[in-house]
Amino acid sequence: MKKVVTYGTFDLLHYGHINLLRRAKEYGDYLIVALSTDEFNAVKNKKSFFSFEERKLILESIKYVDCIIEEKCWEQKAEDIVKNKIEVLVMGNDWEGKFDLLKDYCDVIYLPRTPEISTSKIKEDLRMCR
Ligand code: CTP
Repeated sequence: MKKVVTYGTFDLLHYGHINLLRRAKEYGDYLIVALSTDEFNAVKNKKSFFSFEERKLILESIKYVDCIIEEKCWEQKAEDIVKNKIEVLVMGNDWEGKFDLLKDYCDVIYLPRTPEISTSKIKEDLRMCR
């Protein structure tokens, strides 16, 4: 079983996220999403609309996602990869180059982001809809 991991907040799940998850799953047989906790989002200066448990509930219903673990800090990735016997780390290319050090542990793939959609853009657009 080839395991793949991806990291993120996945708030207000949108088609850019789905595209990323679908392509990530194609790199293996089992996709783990390391989902940022609310506490870690605060560290990243992010505040999600949906709580961790709500984001987890939504992600669990996506057919490409096999398992969700908590992303609690920047430094946990190498340990996650070793502990879960992960062979591929997939991220959107807004993270290009940022995780290259992990190439000692597994393949690291950066996929092109889906254009013109993000959680931030949805929030911004909804503000203008009022
Ligand atoms: N992603 C993507 N295409 C998009 C938006 C996100 O491929 N249009 C990918 C990101 O590159 C990342 C994952 O989805 O690998 C989770 O990204 P996340 O930061 O949760 O989503 P964003 O929509 O980028 O959120 P924000 O606007 O808050 O940064």
